[in-house]
Amino acid sequence: MKMDADYSRATDGATERGSDGLTVLGLETSCDETAASVVRLSAAGAEVLSSVIHSQIDEHAAYGGVVPEIAARSHVEMIDGVARRAMNEAGLDWSALDGVAATAGPGLVGGVMVGLSYGKAAALARGLPLIAVNHLEGHAVSARLGAETAYPFLLLLVSGGHCQLLEVRGIGDMSRLGTTIDDAAGEAFDKIAKALGLGYPGGPALERLAESGDGARFDLPRALLGRKDCDFSFSGLKTAASRLAQTCETEQDRADLADAVQKAIARQLSERTERAMIAYAEAHPELERATGALTQPSAAREAIGSDQGALKQPSAAREAIGQKKRLFVVAGGVAANKTIRRTLEDLATRHGFAFLAPPLVYCTDNAAMIALAGAERLEKGLVSDLDVAARPRWPLDEARANVDPVHKKTGRKGAKA
Ligand code: KG4
Ligand code: ZN
Repeated sequence: MKMDADYSRATDGATERGSDGLTVLGLETSCDETAASVVRLSAAGAEVLSSVIHSQIDEHAAYGGVVPEIAARSHVEMIDGVARRAMNEAGLDWSALDGVAATAGPGLVGGVMVGLSYGKAAALARGLPLIAVNHLEGHAVSARLGAETAYPFLLLLVSGGHCQLLEVRGIGDMSRLGTTIDDAAGEAFDKIAKALGLGYPGGPALERLAESGDGARFDLPRALLGRKDCDFSFSGLKTAASRLAQTCETEQDRADLADAVQKAIARQLSERTERAMIAYAEAHPELERATGALTQPSAAREAIGSDQGALKQPSAAREAIGQKKRLFVVAGGVAANKTIRRTLEDLATRHGFAFLAPPLVYCTDNAAMIALAGAERLEKGLVSDLDVAARPRWPLDEARANVDPVHKKTGRKGAKA
């Protein structure tokens, strides 16, 4: 069967949601988390029935970053137990599933192969459709796990391996407005944190250190100042801050530098997102400004009560639904950063966009986002053949990436897409 560019083939028809919706097991093994989750997609929205994440952080910490061989071996050891636990916690028998979704890339290919092979075996054994999911597409839909979120929306996807602005019109229908020409924002956080002597992963550690700092005394470089596009660059900041880290003598010096770095990253994300918001609003005159205090979605409110949802889950999403309003979503691990969330929420308010970020637990890598992307694909009849291959590189907007291949480097998670 011929595959289309995103590795899916259309079946004869879309899969009908039964009265209780479509229930999909998702598997995620593209970096240093072995994760499995069961998600049900119904008329009421997405319901996470279970989400199990085994983090390998302790196994990699001694090396200051992810070691691909250790990651792949650990995924092999963990995947079966993690997947079975996700099924148990969902309280479901395998016969209750409508499909199995697995991350097929981009990422560390040894790890991707483990989850994808497990997914293929489960799908074959149970006679279920397999859905190969792009990890980035998982992040792109992750906000829909916390709140009913209508398409289209403007997305800033900001993680350890990626930094992109995308227009998201629906599952499998996204175009790239901007991307990093060198490092991802999370990579900058991690590398500068390392230079400051902080542990891995560096983002959360740097955020904690910055709380007691005042970065005003440091003048860090601003990237791509003369350009009018929505691309990012973090390598100059990374080099300058790593050098400055060597001159820090006191704990206060280090905290001040951490604060300066966090603000510089937030500022760059905000400047580029502002350009994208202006372009998006111009391109979509049919979308109204979102204004005023909007109701907070209930699922999001619950997440705030949980230990992992300690941040304010912002307003607006529900009101943006079906009302043709402008919506801005930030997703990916770096979206867990409070300063960055606040900066982007202020920006969104100024430009008449409703603002939404996933609950914290769905910002960093998880399998619920893969299960949801799989369910949305399944609903459209987009499933994969069992010989689908793992892809270390897999741009979301393949057409744009081919015309404008800004990524020639490899990053922490393999080649950037
Ligand atoms: O989405 P993710 O879990 O994995 C990728 O797909 O890359 O993102 C991980 C990245 C790491 O670089 C980590 O340092 C960063 O997200 N991160 C943060 C925070 N929490 C995680 N960066 C800044 N502040 C945080 N609170
Ligand atoms: Zn990720």
